[in-house]
Amino acid sequence: MVEHTTPLTNRTRVTTVRKILSESETIRTILIEDKQCSKAAPGQFAMLWVPGVGESPMSLSIMDKQSLCGFTVKPLGPTSNALCSLREGDRVGIRGPYGNNFTPVYGSSLLIGGGTGLAPLISLSQMLIERGGHVTLILAAKTRTELLFLKEAEHLFQPPRHQLIVATDDGSYGFKGFASDCVADLLKRERYDMIYTCGPEKMMRKIFDLAEAKAIPVQASLERYMKCGFGLCGSCAIGPYLVCADGPIFNSKQLREVSKEFGALRRDSSGRPIPV
Ligand code: FES
Repeated sequence: MVEHTTPLTNRTRVTTVRKILSESETIRTILIEDKQCSKAAPGQFAMLWVPGVGESPMSLSIMDKQSLCGFTVKPLGPTSNALCSLREGDRVGIRGPYGNNFTPVYGSSLLIGGGTGLAPLISLSQMLIERGGHVTLILAAKTRTELLFLKEAEHLFQPPRHQLIVATDDGSYGFKGFASDCVADLLKRERYDMIYTCGPEKMMRKIFDLAEAKAIPVQASLERYMKCGFGLCGSCAIGPYLVCADGPIFNSKQLREVSKEFGALRRDSSGRPIPV
């Protein structure tokens, strides 16, 4: 497990964009220099600040353990749009790393990532593979052009020990259908010690229900509206938990406790419940 938050973690550090990678037509991975976040564990997040625009929580996709960290961003609002428009040499602010991380289990694991939800799962796969686990990854997207990290995954997942399954909703690449359909198929014939998932919450909810029926433990990465990122403001509450401080990774026991909200409801910036 990671150390608890320190005051230094909460201080915004202004740093430089080192590199921008185009992952798809709209999605960018932004590599910045930050020693603290370069040592984060898979599943943790940071608060990224674009001067004059705003601040948003972003999951870490790259941690080189020395000085560089990366965030894979889809333009969905003012801050993420601004992040996707950054150029090398621009300045950004960063706080964190925050939250807990995926707990590695070194048996047989199934990882399912949808869209930018794949970001933390690639570094987790690397860790599980390096330590001798049997790993299957479902890399999912709506369509072929939105598939992320395909090359990295093909390089990482060498059969027969490890398996990569690509799924697209429209069938333009790999398995045709939702990631959850693919999981349902796999669970008919395979047994896993742990399921890890990150992506659209409705997808994760379906996967959780399938796993519950087979008594397979799950770790899921949840997202909620966040202001402070470290347990002060309450904006990210789900049931009795704060996603920023108790999560973002939730285990099966916790997911059962927040069953009414998980995959169904979140809160907007004013605290009003809205559908996920
Ligand atoms: S974002 Fe403020 S308590 Fe979680």
